[in-house]
Amino acid sequence: MIPLAKPTITDDDTRAVRVVLESGNIATGSVVKEFEGRFSEYIGKKHAIAVNSGTIALYLAVRVLGLHRVILPAITCPEVLNAVVHAGAEPVIVDVEESTHNLDPDQLRGDRVRGADAVIITHCYGHPARMDEIRDTCREEGWTLVEDFAQSTGAVYRGKRCGSLGTISVTSFYATKSLTTGHGGMILTDSDETERLLRIARGDDAYQYLENFAPLNLKMTDFQAAMGIRQLGRLEEFVERRSRVASMYRDRLKDVEGITLLQERDGVRNCYYKVVAMVSGTSKETFISRMRERGVHIGIGYDPPLHLTRIMTSRGRTAGHLPVAERCAAEGVSLPVFPSMSREDVDRVCGAVREVLR
Ligand SMILES: Cc1ncc(COP(=O)(O)O)c(C=O)c1O
Repeated sequence: MIPLAKPTITDDDTRAVRVVLESGNIATGSVVKEFEGRFSEYIGKKHAIAVNSGTIALYLAVRVLGLHRVILPAITCPEVLNAVVHAGAEPVIVDVEESTHNLDPDQLRGDRVRGADAVIITHCYGHPARMDEIRDTCREEGWTLVEDFAQSTGAVYRGKRCGSLGTISVTSFYATKSLTTGHGGMILTDSDETERLLRIARGDDAYQYLENFAPLNLKMTDFQAAMGIRQLGRLEEFVERRSRVASMYRDRLKDVEGITLLQERDGVRNCYYKVVAMVSGTSKETFISRMRERGVHIGIGYDPPLHLTRIMTSRGRTAGHLPVAERCAAEGVSLPVFPSMSREDVDRVCGAVREVLR
Protein backbone atom coordinates (compact mmCIF):
# COMPACT_ATOMS: atom_id res chain seq x y z
CA MET A 1 0.00 0.00 0.00
CA ILE A 2 1.35 3.44 -0.85
CA PRO A 3 0.61 5.53 2.25
CA LEU A 4 -0.78 9.03 2.18
CA ALA A 5 2.08 10.40 4.26
CA LYS A 6 5.26 9.14 5.86
CA PRO A 7 7.69 10.93 8.20
CA THR A 8 11.34 11.02 7.13
CA ILE A 9 13.28 9.86 10.18
CA THR A 10 17.00 9.27 9.79
CA ASP A 11 19.90 8.17 12.03
CA ASP A 12 20.51 11.87 12.54
CA ASP A 13 17.14 12.18 14.35
CA THR A 14 17.53 9.03 16.42
CA ARG A 15 21.09 9.96 17.47
CA ALA A 16 19.94 13.40 18.63
CA VAL A 17 17.02 11.93 20.59
CA ARG A 18 19.29 9.29 22.16
CA VAL A 19 21.74 11.96 23.36
CA VAL A 20 18.90 13.67 25.25
CA LEU A 21 17.53 10.42 26.67
CA GLU A 22 20.99 9.43 27.90
CA SER A 23 21.59 12.86 29.43
CA GLY A 24 18.93 12.21 32.07
CA ASN A 25 17.33 15.64 31.41
CA ILE A 26 14.31 14.53 29.47
CA ALA A 27 11.61 17.05 30.38
CA THR A 28 11.71 20.70 29.17
CA GLY A 29 15.13 22.34 29.28
CA SER A 30 17.98 23.68 27.21
CA VAL A 31 17.16 21.70 24.05
CA VAL A 32 13.63 23.13 23.86
CA LYS A 33 15.19 26.59 24.34
CA GLU A 34 17.63 25.91 21.49
CA PHE A 35 14.84 24.70 19.19
CA GLU A 36 12.79 27.82 20.00
CA GLY A 37 15.76 30.04 19.14
CA ARG A 38 16.56 28.31 15.88
CA PHE A 39 12.92 28.16 14.81
CA SER A 40 12.19 31.83 15.53
CA GLU A 41 15.30 32.78 13.58
CA TYR A 42 14.32 30.55 10.64
CA ILE A 43 10.78 31.97 10.46
CA GLY A 44 11.73 35.57 11.22
CA LYS A 45 9.84 36.32 14.45
CA LYS A 46 11.36 37.55 17.70
CA HIS A 47 10.04 34.85 20.04
CA ALA A 48 9.04 31.21 19.69
CA ILE A 49 7.33 29.25 22.48
CA ALA A 50 7.26 25.46 22.07
CA VAL A 51 4.16 23.54 23.19
CA ASN A 52 2.84 20.01 22.97
CA SER A 53 0.63 20.34 19.84
CA GLY A 54 -0.60 22.68 17.15
CA THR A 55 -4.09 22.60 18.67
CA ILE A 56 -2.68 23.88 21.97
CA ALA A 57 -0.59 26.52 20.17
CA LEU A 58 -3.75 27.92 18.59
CA TYR A 59 -5.79 27.57 21.78
CA LEU A 60 -3.18 29.53 23.75
CA ALA A 61 -2.88 32.21 21.05
CA VAL A 62 -6.65 32.85 21.07
CA ARG A 63 -6.91 32.60 24.86
CA VAL A 64 -3.89 34.73 25.78
CA LEU A 65 -4.81 37.48 23.29
CA GLY A 66 -8.38 37.41 24.66
CA LEU A 67 -10.02 37.08 21.23
CA HIS A 68 -13.83 36.89 21.22
CA ARG A 69 -15.16 36.48 17.70
CA VAL A 70 -12.81 34.78 15.30
CA ILE A 71 -13.19 34.31 11.53
CA LEU A 72 -11.85 31.06 10.06
CA PRO A 73 -12.10 29.24 6.73
CA ALA A 74 -14.58 26.38 6.25
CA ILE A 75 -11.94 24.12 4.72
CA THR A 76 -9.30 23.23 7.27
CA CYS A 77 -8.84 20.61 9.95
CA PRO A 78 -11.39 20.44 12.80
CA GLU A 79 -8.69 21.12 15.41
CA VAL A 80 -8.71 24.77 14.32
CA LEU A 81 -12.39 25.09 15.18
CA ASN A 82 -12.00 23.03 18.37
CA ALA A 83 -9.15 25.25 19.62
CA VAL A 84 -11.20 28.43 19.02
CA VAL A 85 -14.24 27.03 20.82
CA HIS A 86 -12.17 25.73 23.77
CA ALA A 87 -10.56 29.15 24.10
CA GLY A 88 -14.05 30.58 24.61
CA ALA A 89 -14.28 32.52 21.33
CA GLU A 90 -17.20 32.46 18.90
CA PRO A 91 -16.21 30.96 15.52
CA VAL A 92 -17.34 32.75 12.36
CA ILE A 93 -16.83 30.39 9.45
CA VAL A 94 -16.44 31.84 5.96
CA ASP A 95 -16.17 30.46 2.45
CA VAL A 96 -13.00 29.59 0.58
CA GLU A 97 -11.76 29.96 -2.99
CA GLU A 98 -12.05 26.90 -5.20
CA SER A 99 -8.62 27.29 -6.82
CA THR A 100 -6.58 26.72 -3.61
CA HIS A 101 -9.24 25.99 -0.90
CA ASN A 102 -7.82 28.93 1.08
CA LEU A 103 -9.94 31.54 2.84
CA ASP A 104 -11.42 33.85 0.20
CA PRO A 105 -10.47 37.45 1.12
CA ASP A 106 -13.71 38.69 -0.50
CA GLN A 107 -15.62 36.93 2.27
CA LEU A 108 -14.14 39.26 4.90
CA ARG A 109 -16.88 41.84 4.31
CA GLY A 110 -20.52 42.23 5.20
CA ASP A 111 -22.90 41.19 7.95
CA ARG A 112 -21.50 37.72 8.56
CA VAL A 113 -18.18 39.02 9.87
CA ARG A 114 -19.55 42.01 11.79
CA GLY A 115 -18.22 42.20 15.35
CA ALA A 116 -15.21 39.98 14.64
CA ASP A 117 -11.90 40.80 16.31
CA ALA A 118 -9.60 38.32 14.56
CA VAL A 119 -9.02 36.15 11.48
CA ILE A 120 -7.26 32.82 11.43
CA ILE A 121 -5.73 31.95 8.08
CA THR A 122 -4.36 28.49 7.44
CA HIS A 123 -2.42 28.34 4.11
CA CYS A 124 -4.37 25.24 3.12
CA TYR A 125 -2.31 22.14 2.20
CA GLY A 126 0.89 24.24 2.18
CA HIS A 127 -0.19 26.84 -0.41
CA PRO A 128 -0.02 30.37 1.05
CA ALA A 129 -3.29 32.31 1.30
CA ARG A 130 -3.74 35.75 -0.37
CA MET A 131 -2.01 37.51 2.49
CA ASP A 132 -1.73 41.03 1.03
CA GLU A 133 -5.50 41.37 0.76
CA ILE A 134 -6.13 39.65 4.09
CA ARG A 135 -3.59 41.85 5.87
CA ASP A 136 -5.07 45.01 4.32
CA THR A 137 -8.53 44.05 5.59
CA CYS A 138 -7.17 43.22 9.06
CA ARG A 139 -5.46 46.62 9.18
CA GLU A 140 -8.62 48.45 8.08
CA GLU A 141 -10.86 46.60 10.53
CA GLY A 142 -8.39 46.52 13.42
CA TRP A 143 -8.50 42.70 13.51
CA THR A 144 -5.76 40.49 14.93
CA LEU A 145 -4.27 38.26 12.23
CA VAL A 146 -3.60 34.78 13.57
CA GLU A 147 -1.43 32.91 11.10
CA ASP A 148 -1.86 29.16 11.54
CA PHE A 149 0.97 27.78 9.41
CA ALA A 150 0.63 24.19 10.63
CA GLN A 151 0.37 23.06 7.01
CA SER A 152 2.93 25.47 5.59
CA THR A 153 6.14 25.27 7.60
CA GLY A 154 8.72 25.84 4.85
CA ALA A 155 6.33 27.69 2.52
CA VAL A 156 7.00 31.26 1.37
CA TYR A 157 4.70 34.14 0.42
CA ARG A 158 6.24 36.89 -1.74
CA GLY A 159 9.70 36.35 -0.28
CA LYS A 160 8.56 36.03 3.35
CA ARG A 161 8.25 32.77 5.23
CA CYS A 162 4.81 31.60 6.25
CA GLY A 163 4.71 32.11 10.00
CA SER A 164 6.27 35.56 9.80
CA LEU A 165 3.14 37.27 8.46
CA GLY A 166 0.67 37.24 11.35
CA THR A 167 0.28 39.31 14.51
CA ILE A 168 0.78 35.95 16.14
CA SER A 169 1.50 32.68 14.38
CA VAL A 170 1.22 29.03 15.32
CA THR A 171 2.33 25.76 13.80
CA SER A 172 2.13 22.01 14.36
CA PHE A 173 4.86 19.38 14.27
CA TYR A 174 2.44 16.43 14.06
CA ALA A 175 3.76 13.22 12.46
CA THR A 176 2.64 14.01 8.89
CA LYS A 177 3.74 17.66 8.84
CA SER A 178 6.67 18.99 6.78
CA LEU A 179 8.73 19.14 10.00
CA THR A 180 7.79 16.66 12.72
CA THR A 181 8.48 15.94 16.38
CA GLY A 182 5.69 13.30 16.63
CA HIS A 183 3.35 15.69 18.38
CA GLY A 184 4.30 19.29 19.08
CA GLY A 185 3.68 22.89 18.18
CA MET A 186 5.11 26.40 18.34
CA ILE A 187 3.71 29.90 18.88
CA LEU A 188 5.58 32.90 17.45
CA THR A 189 5.28 36.55 18.34
CA ASP A 190 7.30 39.77 18.12
CA SER A 191 5.77 41.05 21.39
CA ASP A 192 7.80 40.63 24.59
CA GLU A 193 4.63 40.89 26.69
CA THR A 194 2.74 38.23 24.69
CA GLU A 195 5.76 35.96 25.00
CA ARG A 196 5.78 36.40 28.77
CA LEU A 197 2.07 35.58 29.02
CA LEU A 198 2.39 32.54 26.75
CA ARG A 199 5.21 31.10 28.85
CA ILE A 200 3.05 31.42 31.97
CA ALA A 201 0.04 29.92 30.15
CA ARG A 202 2.22 27.03 28.93
CA GLY A 203 2.93 26.17 32.56
CA ASP A 204 6.50 27.41 33.06
CA ASP A 205 5.64 28.56 36.57
CA ALA A 206 2.48 27.07 38.04
CA TYR A 207 2.40 29.70 40.84
CA GLN A 208 1.86 32.50 38.31
CA TYR A 209 -1.61 33.15 36.93
CA LEU A 210 -3.02 35.09 34.04
CA GLU A 211 -6.27 36.93 34.55
CA ASN A 212 -8.96 34.19 34.74
CA PHE A 213 -6.50 31.56 33.63
CA ALA A 214 -4.64 29.00 35.69
CA PRO A 215 -1.69 27.56 33.79
CA LEU A 216 -1.72 24.00 32.52
CA ASN A 217 1.29 21.86 31.66
CA LEU A 218 1.37 22.20 27.86
CA LYS A 219 5.12 21.94 27.27
CA MET A 220 7.27 20.17 24.69
CA THR A 221 10.00 17.77 25.84
CA ASP A 222 13.73 18.08 25.15
CA PHE A 223 13.82 14.84 23.17
CA GLN A 224 11.07 16.10 20.86
CA ALA A 225 12.97 19.36 20.47
CA ALA A 226 16.17 17.45 19.63
CA MET A 227 14.32 15.83 16.76
CA GLY A 228 12.84 19.19 15.75
CA ILE A 229 16.30 20.77 15.49
CA ARG A 230 17.52 17.98 13.21
CA GLN A 231 14.35 18.12 11.10
CA LEU A 232 14.64 21.90 10.78
CA GLY A 233 18.13 21.40 9.35
CA ARG A 234 16.63 19.21 6.59
CA LEU A 235 13.39 21.14 6.03
CA GLU A 236 14.52 22.79 2.78
CA GLU A 237 15.43 19.38 1.37
CA PHE A 238 12.05 17.95 2.50
CA VAL A 239 10.19 20.77 0.74
CA GLU A 240 12.23 20.31 -2.44
CA ARG A 241 11.47 16.61 -2.50
CA ARG A 242 7.77 17.20 -1.89
CA SER A 243 7.79 19.77 -4.73
CA ARG A 244 9.37 17.26 -7.07
CA VAL A 245 6.61 14.75 -6.30
CA ALA A 246 3.96 17.44 -6.87
CA SER A 247 5.41 18.43 -10.23
CA MET A 248 5.51 14.77 -11.33
CA TYR A 249 1.80 14.52 -10.48
CA ARG A 250 1.09 17.73 -12.37
CA ASP A 251 2.90 16.48 -15.41
CA ARG A 252 1.40 12.97 -15.43
CA LEU A 253 -2.20 13.91 -14.60
CA LYS A 254 -2.60 17.05 -16.72
CA ASP A 255 -4.48 15.26 -19.50
CA VAL A 256 -6.50 12.89 -17.34
CA GLU A 257 -10.19 13.72 -17.43
CA GLY A 258 -12.05 13.71 -14.12
CA ILE A 259 -9.20 14.91 -11.89
CA THR A 260 -7.90 18.48 -11.56
CA LEU A 261 -5.03 19.42 -9.24
CA LEU A 262 -5.45 22.66 -7.31
CA GLN A 263 -3.89 25.79 -8.79
CA GLU A 264 -0.45 27.23 -8.05
CA ARG A 265 -0.24 31.00 -7.72
CA ASP A 266 2.74 33.07 -8.84
CA GLY A 267 4.92 34.59 -6.13
CA VAL A 268 4.51 31.77 -3.61
CA ARG A 269 6.39 28.65 -2.64
CA ASN A 270 4.03 25.80 -1.73
CA CYS A 271 5.52 23.28 0.73
CA TYR A 272 3.08 20.54 -0.40
CA TYR A 273 1.88 19.31 2.93
CA LYS A 274 -0.79 17.69 0.76
CA VAL A 275 -1.30 17.38 -2.98
CA VAL A 276 -5.02 17.93 -3.48
CA ALA A 277 -7.23 17.42 -6.51
CA MET A 278 -10.91 17.79 -7.35
CA VAL A 279 -12.51 14.62 -8.73
CA SER A 280 -15.51 14.79 -11.06
CA GLY A 281 -17.59 12.30 -13.01
CA THR A 282 -17.41 9.73 -10.23
CA SER A 283 -18.12 10.04 -6.52
CA LYS A 284 -15.22 10.74 -4.20
CA GLU A 285 -16.07 7.63 -2.15
CA THR A 286 -15.97 5.39 -5.25
CA PHE A 287 -12.68 6.94 -6.33
CA ILE A 288 -11.10 6.42 -2.90
CA SER A 289 -12.24 2.81 -2.55
CA ARG A 290 -11.18 1.86 -6.11
CA MET A 291 -7.76 3.45 -5.51
CA ARG A 292 -7.48 1.48 -2.27
CA GLU A 293 -8.18 -1.76 -4.20
CA ARG A 294 -5.14 -0.82 -6.30
CA GLY A 295 -2.91 -0.30 -3.27
CA VAL A 296 -3.05 3.49 -2.99
CA HIS A 297 -4.24 5.34 0.08
CA ILE A 298 -6.19 8.49 -0.87
CA GLY A 299 -7.18 11.14 1.71
CA ILE A 300 -10.78 12.33 2.04
CA GLY A 301 -9.84 15.98 2.49
CA TYR A 302 -11.74 18.18 4.96
CA ASP A 303 -15.16 16.64 4.81
CA PRO A 304 -17.50 17.82 6.24
CA PRO A 305 -16.48 21.46 5.94
CA LEU A 306 -16.26 23.11 9.36
CA HIS A 307 -19.65 24.89 9.19
CA LEU A 308 -21.32 21.45 8.95
CA THR A 309 -19.57 19.90 11.96
CA ARG A 310 -21.72 19.18 15.00
CA ILE A 311 -20.36 22.20 16.87
CA MET A 312 -21.66 24.47 14.12
CA THR A 313 -24.92 22.71 13.20
CA SER A 314 -25.85 22.89 16.87
CA ARG A 315 -25.37 26.68 16.48
CA GLY A 316 -27.84 26.67 13.58
CA ARG A 317 -25.54 26.39 10.56
CA THR A 318 -27.02 24.43 7.64
CA ALA A 319 -25.90 23.05 4.30
CA GLY A 320 -26.07 25.39 1.32
CA HIS A 321 -24.69 28.47 2.95
CA LEU A 322 -21.01 28.15 2.03
CA PRO A 323 -21.32 26.64 -1.47
CA VAL A 324 -17.68 26.68 -2.53
CA ALA A 325 -16.49 24.94 0.64
CA GLU A 326 -19.23 22.35 0.26
CA ARG A 327 -18.06 21.59 -3.28
CA CYS A 328 -14.40 21.41 -2.13
CA ALA A 329 -15.41 18.95 0.59
CA ALA A 330 -17.53 16.86 -1.80
CA GLU A 331 -14.92 16.61 -4.56
CA GLY A 332 -11.53 17.18 -2.89
CA VAL A 333 -9.14 14.27 -2.36
CA SER A 334 -5.48 14.17 -1.44
CA LEU A 335 -2.84 12.07 -3.17
CA PRO A 336 0.13 10.47 -1.38
CA VAL A 337 3.09 12.83 -0.88
CA PHE A 338 6.16 12.49 1.35
CA PRO A 339 9.85 13.29 0.88
CA SER A 340 10.98 9.69 0.33
CA MET A 341 8.31 9.00 -2.31
CA SER A 342 9.94 7.57 -5.44
CA ARG A 343 9.24 8.18 -9.13
CA GLU A 344 7.94 4.59 -9.28
CA ASP A 345 5.49 5.30 -6.44
CA VAL A 346 4.18 8.38 -8.30
CA ASP A 347 3.88 6.35 -11.52
CA ARG A 348 1.92 3.69 -9.65
CA VAL A 349 -0.48 6.26 -8.19
CA CYS A 350 -0.98 7.93 -11.59
CA GLY A 351 -1.46 4.58 -13.33
CA ALA A 352 -4.14 3.68 -10.78
CA VAL A 353 -5.84 7.09 -11.26
CA ARG A 354 -6.00 6.52 -15.02
CA GLU A 355 -7.50 3.05 -14.56
CA VAL A 356 -10.08 4.23 -12.03
CA LEU A 357 -11.21 7.24 -14.07
CA ARG A 358 -11.22 5.47 -17.44
C1 LIG B 1 -4.08 24.15 10.06
C2 LIG B 1 -3.92 23.28 11.28
N1 LIG B 1 -4.04 23.85 12.50
C3 LIG B 1 -3.90 23.11 13.63
C4 LIG B 1 -3.64 21.76 13.57
C5 LIG B 1 -3.56 20.99 14.83
O1 LIG B 1 -2.27 20.55 15.07
P1 LIG B 1 -1.97 19.28 16.03
O2 LIG B 1 -2.40 18.07 15.29
O3 LIG B 1 -0.51 19.35 16.25
O4 LIG B 1 -2.74 19.48 17.28
C6 LIG B 1 -3.48 21.15 12.32
C7 LIG B 1 -3.20 19.73 12.12
O5 LIG B 1 -3.16 18.81 12.65
C8 LIG B 1 -3.64 21.92 11.15
O6 LIG B 1 -3.51 21.37 9.94
